[in-house]
Amino acid sequence: MSEHRVPNLIAGERVHGDQPLEVTHPYDDSPAGTTTYATPDQVERAVAHAAGLAGEGARLPVHARADALTAISEAIKANADELAELITAENGKPMMWSRAEVGRAVSVFRWAAEETRQQGGEVMRLDTDAAAEGRLAYVRHVPIGPVLAISPFNFPLNLVAHKVAPAIAVGAPVVLKPAPKTPLSGLRLGELIAETDLPPGFVQVLNVKNEEAGSLVDDPRLPVVSFTGSGPVGYAIRDQVPGKHVVLELGGNAAVYVASDYASEADLDWASTRIANFSNYQAGQSCIGVQRVFADASLYEDLKARVVEKVAALVTGDPRDEKTFVGPMIEEAAAERVEQWVTAAQGLGASVLTGGHRDFTTYAPTVLEGVPHEAKASCEEVFGPVLLLESVEGDEAGLAAINDSKFGLQAGVFTHDLQLAFRAQRELEVGGVIIGDAPSYRADQMPYGGVKDSGVGREGIRYTMTDFTYERVMVLTGLDL
Ligand code: SIN
Repeated sequence: MSEHRVPNLIAGERVHGDQPLEVTHPYDDSPAGTTTYATPDQVERAVAHAAGLAGEGARLPVHARADALTAISEAIKANADELAELITAENGKPMMWSRAEVGRAVSVFRWAAEETRQQGGEVMRLDTDAAAEGRLAYVRHVPIGPVLAISPFNFPLNLVAHKVAPAIAVGAPVVLKPAPKTPLSGLRLGELIAETDLPPGFVQVLNVKNEEAGSLVDDPRLPVVSFTGSGPVGYAIRDQVPGKHVVLELGGNAAVYVASDYASEADLDWASTRIANFSNYQAGQSCIGVQRVFADASLYEDLKARVVEKVAALVTGDPRDEKTFVGPMIEEAAAERVEQWVTAAQGLGASVLTGGHRDFTTYAPTVLEGVPHEAKASCEEVFGPVLLLESVEGDEAGLAAINDSKFGLQAGVFTHDLQLAFRAQRELEVGGVIIGDAPSYRADQMPYGGVKDSGVGREGIRYTMTDFTYERVMVLTGLDL
């Protein structure tokens, strides 16, 4: 094996397994790097090491956690170009999106440093009741234990950051299993974390085949499982370990509603630009990429013409080219699946307004109209550069169409009407409603997660910190308050 293998990070050491994991560039299959799968003994060593660090982690003083998080944020910033190139090489997302992802990871660790400084627990006077005079409670948030983090390919740095940073913030050791298609960014992040003053091996990164991850999930020494990925895998994990704390960030078929008041030139231009861009960024491989677009009948034809024109104009090609907006999908099988779903939708009566063809891993940005709701391209998560247009009659129908889904992650409503905005927040069965923009907006500090088949639990640093801890109360008695 080549000496350029990227090591796994286990128990504070850089180790190689005995089976190679070749990472290739999704655009042209060129080599992106080589690493190895950890052996069963190495996996056991990692889990034992994490369990052994749990007590020390829970006792780490706030300044140690906050300083480490700040140092990681600064290290990501200092290595931003290298990390962005790595993301593009292994994931195939265009450089502009890789740079954006690195910038977000910088802020995730910075936010985690700030949150950990601010969370001091709560003090409650209990003498609100005569029987409890002289009593006071102090509530401390205690890490549940080491976190098994299973991360997806679509944000190989930032969705790792969303698991690792809150874990460090609460003092929980991490065993990270990155996606086998995109392990290099997580391994590089692990190297940067290893340079901080955290206990050696506080964050371990090891390659494990998806089909062999079951034993990690089962292991009682890892009481928290934080998974981002597909619904079937996520719910299988939850069913496998019902007694564990399982956080699932799953998929969606995110929808947009364009209300009748969003009808000026400027409004239609903004809405169509955002819809076109955020249906196709990262080749549609985002859980909150725009998939279903419902527009009021009064402006539907105008919006449609603009969306089709803008989607057709998106620069598609080699993600290493700075001008490219839409790159390849993660692998040929993924692009073939999208191709099959579009063909099946056409068989059910849908029309292709632009796109609808594939070249190896690249699927052309595609707009469909007239897609029946039972078509997979509508009711399942496409996770590709495909959007569906549909005309609806009024707000009631627009909101109902968004809710007509088994998923519920985020939704976008283009309106200036504040009452409609509040109504949308009240009535939409999703974890986030974005007013005046696509559902693909995510600020990393805000709560992020789904309802229905889109998952359980929330990301967003403070919310994940809550997820990774439990409250332990101490009652002091006999105090002269
Ligand atoms: C996801 O695809 O679930 C993550 C979206 C994001 O972080 O922007």
